[in-house]
Order: sequence, then C-alpha cells, then structure tokens
Amino acid sequence: MSEQRPKVLATRKFPADIEARLSSEYRATLNETDRIYPPEELVAAAREHDAVMCCPSERFSREVLEQVAGSIGIIATYSVGYEHIDVPAARDVGIVVTYTPDVLTDATADTAMLFILAAARRGAECDRFVRSGGWDRWHTLLMLGTHVSGKRLGILGMGRIGQALAKRARGFDMPVHYHNRRRLPPEQEQGATFHADPADLLAVSDFLSINCPSSPETVRFLNAERIEMLPEGAFVVNTARGNIVDDEALIAALRSGRVAAAGLDVFDNEPNLHPGYLDLDNVFMLPHVGSATHETRTAMGDTCLANLAAFFAGRPCPQALT
Ligand code: DGY
Repeated sequence: MSEQRPKVLATRKFPADIEARLSSEYRATLNETDRIYPPEELVAAAREHDAVMCCPSERFSREVLEQVAGSIGIIATYSVGYEHIDVPAARDVGIVVTYTPDVLTDATADTAMLFILAAARRGAECDRFVRSGGWDRWHTLLMLGTHVSGKRLGILGMGRIGQALAKRARGFDMPVHYHNRRRLPPEQEQGATFHADPADLLAVSDFLSINCPSSPETVRFLNAERIEMLPEGAFVVNTARGNIVDDEALIAALRSGRVAAAGLDVFDNEPNLHPGYLDLDNVFMLPHVGSATHETRTAMGDTCLANLAAFFAGRPCPQALT
C-alpha cells in the first residue's frame, strides 16, 4: 500500500512538522544536512521522484526541466519568488509549478517597515556603538536620526507585500506613492499616489522600498542614474531580490551620503554579498530572513503540501503558476 505513495524530493531542510507530514504522506527524500544539490545531482535526484519541493537555491532552467520532464509532474517551490524556475518552459514540458504567495506577506512587510525605522534611526550604528563600550553619557545630539512621519514612502511594486507595507506606513503617517505595472483600483490604492513612470516615483521617494519581483525588466533597476533621481539623502530598503540593485552604485551613494542609509535583506550573489557593504555604518542588513517567522515558515510548508495533495488527487493546484 505504502509503495503506492508518490515520491517527493525535498531539496532543502524544512520545519520539522512539515518534514514529518512529507514523510507520512509521501515516500519523501529529505535533506538532513541541508546540503545544496549541485545542478547535475539535482537532475539525477529529481528523475527518481514524482515531485520536487524546492527553494530558490535550486535552479530549474529550461535545460533542467527538459531533463526531468516525464519523471516529475510538479515542482512546489517553498517561496513567493519564482525567478529560479523557467515557468514558460515548465508549461511547455507539462510540469506544474506552484509557489507560496499570501502567507509571507505580513512577515515580509514587517521586515520592510523594520528597515524603514532602522535606517531612519541609525539602528545598526547605534547597536554597534553600545556594544563598543564607547557610550559614556546621554546627550542632546547623540545619534540623531530622521523622523519618518510625514516623509514620502515610494513603493516600487505594489503587489501583496507592497500593499501590506503601505498599510503599515500609513500607521506611521507616511504619505504613500507607488509604481506598479498596472494602477490598482481605489480600494487597494487606499489613497496612495500612482506614478506610471518609475522616474516620477523616484523623484518623490524620501524612502524607497523595493517590493517588485526580479525579472529582466527589474534587474539592476536601481543604478547610479536612478539613484540620482531620488531626493538628496533618501533612504533605500530592499526586501525583494538583491539583483534589482546595482551594488557598486548603492555603495558609492551610501559612502557619499547621497543615499542617507539603507536596509537590505537580500543581496546579489548572496550569501557572498559585495564586501563594500561590510564597513558601512549606514546600512542595516539581515541575512534574507524577510519571511523567517515560525508561523510563516510553517504556513509556507502547509501551502506546498496543499498543492502537492491537490496535484496527486487530480485537482487543480490552488497556487499554480503553470
Ligand atoms: C521568497 O519566498 O521568495 C523568499 O524570498 C525566500 O526566498
């Protein structure tokens, strides 16, 4: 009987309760050591299974998908981002791809708000200062920061996470501006100002939050030329993908003060980020933990399991991309 259960390859380590369910509902291959599969091993392992539950650390290019088609029927990625999967190619070879939207919206928007506040109030610098032992007294000019209330927040990418950030920012009395591929209806806009041209958004962004997916159109969006369009001393926050920022340009702007401070959760080529960030006091960094709450990571696993269950029951997958 158990031999009839589909075989699922879990490419990374997942929360214990999710792995327990994977093992009880499927013939699951878990990754106890969380070793990242080299591409050839990924293909070989996937071909031994009916489904893959993966993360953005695994790349499913057209070439890889063509090699695993006929073996696996579904790739359930444990992420809202899906730039690591060639979705049109998956469609062509008949592999269903699912992702985990919605469940990480609040955690990621909280992280963006944390960055806005930490960048404005010199969070990383203050923390280092206290730990250094150099703090000798309270004084009136110590570590003065910037008030966020009344400052304009520009949101690049007004999807679920952008809208959740806008809701938080309204609570801090920040006027919200945004650019998105399409203008939102008024009930979703909630008074935010739409800019059809991203250059117009940049011009009003005292704080710029990047919340768009990585795509050929957005890679290196925030380059030196666009940084010059920001107000002098603007703040930059990125909880989306590292490659949307041109690191050299942002580092130069943080060094000169053209950009006052930044909050970054994601980096190009992470975890091997550009070393230029490391000695900057005005950048608050996190190791790609925007969605890292117990609740969210479990909900992401539940979403993958629900999609696998639907697929193997012959029902449409609720979060299908293909
Ligand atoms: C996501 O879900 O896309 C997160 O960034 C984790 O990669």
